[in-house]
Amino acid sequence: MKLSIYQRRLLIYLVALGFSCFPAFGQKKTINQRVDSLLKLMTIEEKVGQLNQYSGREVTGPVTSRQTYLLNDIKAGRVGSMLNVHGVKDTREIQAVALQSRLKIPLLFSMDVIHGYKTVFPIPLAEAASWDLEAIRTSAHIAAKEAAAVGLHWTFAPMVDVGRDARWGRLMEGAGEDTYLGSLIARARVLGFQGEKLGGTDAVMACAKHFAGYGAAIAGRDYNAVDMSNQLLWEAYLPPFKAAADAGVATFMNSFNTLNGIPATGNSYLQRDILKGKWGYKGFVVSDWGSIGEMVPWGYAKDEKDAAFKAIIAGSDMDMEAEAYKKNLATLVKEKKVDIKLIDDAVRRILYKKFELGLFDDPYRFSNAGREQKVLNDPQHKLVARDVAQKSIVLLKNEKQVLPLSGAVKTIALIGPLGKSKRDLEGSWIPLSDTSLVTSVYEGLRSKINPSSQIIHAKGCDITDNGQAGFAEAIAAAKQADVVVMALGESYDMSGEAKSRTDIHLPGKQEELFEAVQATGKPVVVVLMAGRPLIFPKITEKASAIVYAWWLGAEAGNALANVLTGEYNPAGKLPISFPRSVGQIPISYSMYNTGRPVKNPKDIKYKSAYIDSPNSPQYGFGFGLSYTTFSYSNPKISKTTIRSTESAELSFTISNTGNVAGEEVAQLYIQDEIASVARPLKELKDFIKVALKPGESKEIHFNINREKLAFYNSILQWTAEPGNFKLMVGASSDDIKFIQKLELK
Ligand code: GLC
Repeated sequence: MKLSIYQRRLLIYLVALGFSCFPAFGQKKTINQRVDSLLKLMTIEEKVGQLNQYSGREVTGPVTSRQTYLLNDIKAGRVGSMLNVHGVKDTREIQAVALQSRLKIPLLFSMDVIHGYKTVFPIPLAEAASWDLEAIRTSAHIAAKEAAAVGLHWTFAPMVDVGRDARWGRLMEGAGEDTYLGSLIARARVLGFQGEKLGGTDAVMACAKHFAGYGAAIAGRDYNAVDMSNQLLWEAYLPPFKAAADAGVATFMNSFNTLNGIPATGNSYLQRDILKGKWGYKGFVVSDWGSIGEMVPWGYAKDEKDAAFKAIIAGSDMDMEAEAYKKNLATLVKEKKVDIKLIDDAVRRILYKKFELGLFDDPYRFSNAGREQKVLNDPQHKLVARDVAQKSIVLLKNEKQVLPLSGAVKTIALIGPLGKSKRDLEGSWIPLSDTSLVTSVYEGLRSKINPSSQIIHAKGCDITDNGQAGFAEAIAAAKQADVVVMALGESYDMSGEAKSRTDIHLPGKQEELFEAVQATGKPVVVVLMAGRPLIFPKITEKASAIVYAWWLGAEAGNALANVLTGEYNPAGKLPISFPRSVGQIPISYSMYNTGRPVKNPKDIKYKSAYIDSPNSPQYGFGFGLSYTTFSYSNPKISKTTIRSTESAELSFTISNTGNVAGEEVAQLYIQDEIASVARPLKELKDFIKVALKPGESKEIHFNINREKLAFYNSILQWTAEPGNFKLMVGASSDDIKFIQKLELK
């Protein structure tokens, strides 16, 4: 029978279609095909097992008494992931138990490798002060290499919560107050942890957390409710999560807070409408520790079964430590209250990652003793840590160029409770905390300054004690010195999770110690170390120099010594506003003009002002000094009007007008002067970090397009409205060098 041309074409099409559906003999199945094949074999109990995550011996949340049956659950295929199990030995051991299960589905091993595993890097808030995306990415990459070398597949980082409340202890884990900077850092950290593509044994799955709005907890009290408009949610708090999703982040973690009355873990608007719906996210969502069960005390679920129901409906895929899914999901399916399709979707998302990591091909591929030894002892890692640490240091004050310390200095008095501390310099979220790897401020200085110079150490006081017994020794040390370096701040457990503070002054009597030492008349350099902005008015007023050193990790002492001696010229810029008082909180640079703006600080009657404080922060977002000076000149704009898809180019020259090399972060802020919703006075929309030799100049170009002029209007449309815009270039949010007008037609 002769086929017509059309019949022949149809036949060819059908044959081609057939081949495309099924892999040719010997051709590798796609991951989706492998997931589907496995899913078909799984019982409901095994499916629910994949949605269950337990913690190992160490815990990072309220402990439930489960140790006894943990291994039995793993052997029975009722566990999909473990957290806080690490090390080649332990991960191999536990994985072997999982492989005794009927379908031999391997476990995912996860941990909070927030700023390093063995090599402790600066806390993320410190790294944000570097404004150096490559340094931040490299830091995350090293952390991932070390984590992957000890059998971990997954880190619960980056924390991308925007934070504008210094009472909240978890600021230390994030990138500060700004959405734009936070979004770029979110991307850098995801790429650092995961590499360009998952599956290498030098990378781990990352986790964008805590979705969403967690940094706006009412009163800065951890785990508290969050109330905000959807316009603010979309404008300020969601973009870093979107940036992480766009960077391919493998997982999300939801947050403990309610968002406008609904717990994040039971919040379909967040997890289904936005994340898996509008954003089309294909990874999976893990609940934060016990947050599914915590919907009961929230008064949002009547019991654990109701909580499990609400969580799976809302798109929480994996249950960390609540055991709500393990105990209730199979029943809910059997009672036809939950469609098995929801379970299958969650299981599919999790299995997909396990295939992507190669765990079905080799469940032990991340647990290699030889690699563990080699990677954890790589001497390069601490050099990377030192580099990003010194880049994270912010010089807040430097009167009469007391810094860098002159080589002629013969005697330094090192005073303060953090002078010889090691554990405090690591900060919180430390997987191993081997303080023998930490260089203290004393050790760093000792190894850097002239061996003939003397360092007299006097602690002066403890971090939190209220005694002044050590003051006399400190004053005596100061009197013998040419210059005093004071190491003051928080202890490592005063910031971090569940560490909200109502008073963010320097703890204890440290500021009194400073005043007693400063009264000797010696020049005093104050090094402040903490996991958040602190308030230190006497030091601000009377110190000769102030260096904010956050918690810089293992290389803190060496990084600080490099900065204090001038080997490295500090270039850090604050990623968060420092309030004058807790009364100003929440505070950020992107504040509104209001209908009664303060034009003259002396005339605040009936103005939007405090009668006991300026509105401005003590130190503004983007602020940081250098040992050199920079000038901004020659601003030009390629056009003062742009239409539809056009863009304009703003250019200017930065020059190093001092006599040492340095780096400057030039920042672009934009204000939409009139819009359908009131817009902030300024929003960061671009920045560039340039290195300049003494006398060197560089021309800088910022491209201004519609995207930079857009915002979410009152019906949540991302739009750029015609009108006038102010383009502001500055060395910080409160040091604007010039303003250029632009009209959008
Ligand atoms: C904690 C934290 C979360 C962390 C998790 C596992 O409660 O909120 O950031 O990743 O539990 O340790």
